[in-house]
Amino acid sequence: MVNKAYSYEEPKQALNSRISAHAKYSNFNLHEWIKERFRIQEGDRLWDLGCGNGNFTGFFWELVKPSGSILGMDKNSDLIKEAQGKYKELPKKNVQFMIHDFDDPLPDTGMSYKWIFSIYSLYYTEDSLKLMQVLKNQLAPGGALIVIGPGPENTKDLNEFNYSLTGKNPDEEHIKRIERIANEFKPLFEKIFTKELVEYEEIDSVMNFPDIESFSEYYKSTLLWRQSTKGFSDDKIKEIEVKIKEMIPNSIQIKKQMSCLVGRID
Ligand SMILES: C[S@@+](CC[C@H](N)C(=O)[O-])C[C@H]1O[C@@H](n2cnc3c(N)ncnc32)[C@H](O)[C@@H]1O
Repeated sequence: MVNKAYSYEEPKQALNSRISAHAKYSNFNLHEWIKERFRIQEGDRLWDLGCGNGNFTGFFWELVKPSGSILGMDKNSDLIKEAQGKYKELPKKNVQFMIHDFDDPLPDTGMSYKWIFSIYSLYYTEDSLKLMQVLKNQLAPGGALIVIGPGPENTKDLNEFNYSLTGKNPDEEHIKRIERIANEFKPLFEKIFTKELVEYEEIDSVMNFPDIESFSEYYKSTLLWRQSTKGFSDDKIKEIEVKIKEMIPNSIQIKKQMSCLVGRID
């Protein structure tokens, strides 16, 4: 399906805030989950699409080093620069970063990959069919394409809270994007990889914020906040900030849901 409205620009600070909030307040550790769920091994070649600031690069490197390799790709040059800075000590022939929009034709890296991961990024693609087919062809024998992202039930309570504060529901594209892995990508994977070679699961978790400040910082780093308050005056934003304090008890819990779709080749 082709839809330009799925496209998204990630502000660097917003991504850092969300990563840090997840690390501190979530009862779910995605790094650990990936380690248990997939047998990533020394020597494996891995492609991390939409790698952002390299949140998973060091973790992947620990699993594939010293002979494996990682290609991190993202369209955001600031985030790629941050990743390059963070991992400048790692061997450049094994750990590479590339600025590239995955909706443009993918460069021929001359390689095939045991693992292609896309963590909270591929659901921004404008043309899922084209991209999935190209990615499948980049897999080495026994390889897997793994798409991780929000599940259909993700942050429903945050959406309700946001509505009571801003009077705005998430826009239609935002809702469709959240449901994309389940509703659009899964049937596509079953066609491309065949049903027998596709796995899909949804995993529930919670984020427990100990105080209003930590919750507020997280909430304001979300796309939901940015879309809902777009065009609001500074006074209106200040009014909402006061309301957040009035409405939130001392601690707050947000339900999250992740989905994971895997397509394998023999
Ligand atoms: C929510 S962040 C996730 C980053 C990283 N995978 C992580 O889990 O920390 C989404 C990332 O996808 C990237 N992205 C979105 N659309 C993209 C596109 N069309 N091509 C390449 N990267 C894209 C954004 O720049 C951003 O870094």
